[in-house]
Amino acid sequence: MKELFDRMGPTYATTNVVSSFGFSEFWRVACVSIANIKPDTVVCDLMAGSGECWRYIPKDVAEIISIDFSDFMNERQVERSKKVNRSIDIRCENATATSLPDASVDHVISAFGLKTLSQSAISDLTRELHRILKPGGTFSLLEISLPKNPVIRLPYQWYLCSAIPLIGKLMLGDIECYRMLGKYTTEFENCTALIPLFEKAGLEVEYGNHFFGCATSLSGHKKGEP
Ligand SMILES: C[S@@+](CC[C@H](N)C(=O)[O-])C[C@H]1O[C@@H](n2cnc3c(N)ncnc32)[C@H](O)[C@@H]1O
Repeated sequence: MKELFDRMGPTYATTNVVSSFGFSEFWRVACVSIANIKPDTVVCDLMAGSGECWRYIPKDVAEIISIDFSDFMNERQVERSKKVNRSIDIRCENATATSLPDASVDHVISAFGLKTLSQSAISDLTRELHRILKPGGTFSLLEISLPKNPVIRLPYQWYLCSAIPLIGKLMLGDIECYRMLGKYTTEFENCTALIPLFEKAGLEVEYGNHFFGCATSLSGHKKGEP
């Protein structure tokens, strides 16, 4: 999986805009805003890519920690942290088993990272979220999804599975990476099936629909008083 993202890295920004119908930035804004980030807190961006969400994190937080296992994405993060002039703790690690201490994070955000995780990796992720979050700490995870309404679903699925690989081939010379994107999104479907895993890990979780279900989110908090 890491190899897929290292390979996709150079064209990721373009693909992301195209695969989300240009909605990716709106959905990142939504993902960050749902986390209800407070001043002077520690924010962890899981599966951070090249740091696409950072610009939406309020300037008055105490610390941003970024986790991504792709070397390529981490290199991009270093460039971006200089560009946005923010000091970011960049860690090249697996999001399901980080080196962060227990109960050390106030808010966790993650945009577009869920679809490539297996069921067991998502279980590990929920346990990791529970471990690193402080009591009362919030999380917000969002992913591109397939709408339930067939009028939107069928053209969107065609677009993801057939049109995007073609665009990938024509514009970027790579068809396989983009075929994988459609495959993962189709298999992922939406965030509904993940709710029990979050609950099992002891997290209070809420489901969110964005633009007729073209993206869905899971957000909530770790039980307990802050
Ligand atoms: C689709 S990109 C999303 C990037 C970014 N969050 C955004 O808003 O565009 C998914 C990222 O998750 C990373 N990733 C996937 N699985 C991971 C894992 N288990 N641990 C750490 N990073 C992971 C990939 O390397 C990739 O950079």
